[in-house]
Amino acid sequence: MNKQEIIQLLKVKGKERTALLKRSQETRLKEVGNKVYFRGLVEFSNICAKDCLYCGIRKGNEKVVRYEVTDEEILESCRFAWENKFASVVLQSGELSSPAFVNRVDNLLKKIKQISNNELGITLSCGEQSKETYLRWKESGAHRYLLRIESSNKELYYKIHPQNQQHNFENRLEALQSLKEIGYQVGTGVMVGLPFQTYDDLANDLLFFKKLDIDMCGMGPYLEHEDTPLYKHRHLLKTKQERFDLALNMIAVLRLLMPDINIAAATALQAIDPAGREKALAIGANIIMPNLTPTAYREEYQLYENKPCLDEDAELCRNCLEARINMSGNEIGYGEWGDSKHFYKRKKS
Ligand code: 5AD
Ligand code: FES
Repeated sequence: MNKQEIIQLLKVKGKERTALLKRSQETRLKEVGNKVYFRGLVEFSNICAKDCLYCGIRKGNEKVVRYEVTDEEILESCRFAWENKFASVVLQSGELSSPAFVNRVDNLLKKIKQISNNELGITLSCGEQSKETYLRWKESGAHRYLLRIESSNKELYYKIHPQNQQHNFENRLEALQSLKEIGYQVGTGVMVGLPFQTYDDLANDLLFFKKLDIDMCGMGPYLEHEDTPLYKHRHLLKTKQERFDLALNMIAVLRLLMPDINIAAATALQAIDPAGREKALAIGANIIMPNLTPTAYREEYQLYENKPCLDEDAELCRNCLEARINMSGNEIGYGEWGDSKHFYKRKKS
C-alpha cells in the first residue's frame, strides 16, 4: 500500500468503511486468531518530569495530587493478575530517570517474577530512558516495552510537546531504536485526531510503524484535557465520534499493513464509547489492558477527561470484560503470554 491508498482507506465512509473493517477482522482471524490477550495495567506512579502539552498528568499541572503506589500494593495487583490467569502485566508511570526510580522499577521486576513463579510476563511503559536502564530492566525480567511516538511528524511532535532538550524528537526515535536493539518486543503508537494532525500525517505514522518493524501498537483518540496547554486548540478538533471512527480506521489499516502484530484496543476508545474497546476487538485489535491500579489512586491518573473505570475494582472489571469480549465473538487467551507473532518471525529472519 502506498501513502495515497492509505489516505483513501482512512477516509472511507458507509459501505466502503464496513468492507475495510471486515477485511481487517478477517486478516486478524487468519493471522493471529480470535484470542484476546489481557495485560493487567498498573499505573504505579503519576509523578512525571515531563510536560507534554496534551497530558493531564504533565509536570506543570498543579491540580494533580501526586502518588506512588506502594510496592506491596503493586505486588498485590500483580498477584491478582497472575491468579486470574491474565499472564501479563503492564507497569506504567510518569517519566522519571532518577537512580531511585530506576532502582525501584528494577526491584519490582524481580519481585514480580518471584511471586509469580517466574510466570507473569512484564511490559514496561515508563518513558524514555538510557540504553543502560533499558538493558538493566530487560535483564531483571521485562520483555516488552511501550513507548508511543505520539506523532512521527517532527513538526507536529513539536506542536504537542515543549520545544526543549527534554522533549527531543530524535531522542525518542533513538529510545525506540535502543529498545529494539536490546531485544524487547517493542510497541509504539500515536494519538488520533490531534489538533493540526492531517490524514497525510496519519498515513505517515502507519508507514513509520511498518518501517520501524514494530511488534505491538496502541492507538487511541486524542481527548482534550482542560488543564493542559493544548486545550486552547480544541476548536480545531474533529468531533469525538469522528476521532473515534478514525482511530478504528487506523487500527484496521494497520492490521492490513502489519497482519501479525499485536494491536491494543486503547482505553481512550472507551472514554468516547462505552463499548469502544470491544468495537476495536471486533475489527482487528487483539489486546486489552484491564486496569488493575488500586482504585484509590485512579482519580489522579487522568491523562485525559472521562477516563473510564475510575471506581471499578479489578474483580468487577474482569467479570464485565469477560462477558463483553465473549459477546463480541472473541475468546480470552487466559494463561497465555500472547506474544507478538511478528516478534518471533522477525527474530528468526
Ligand atoms: N488523550 C489521549 N491520549 C493521551 N495520552 C496522553 N494524554 C492523552 C490525551 N489527552 C496517551 C499518550 C501516552 C499514553 C500513555 O497516553 O499517547 O503515550
Ligand atoms: Fe508526557 Fe504524560 S507528560 S505523556
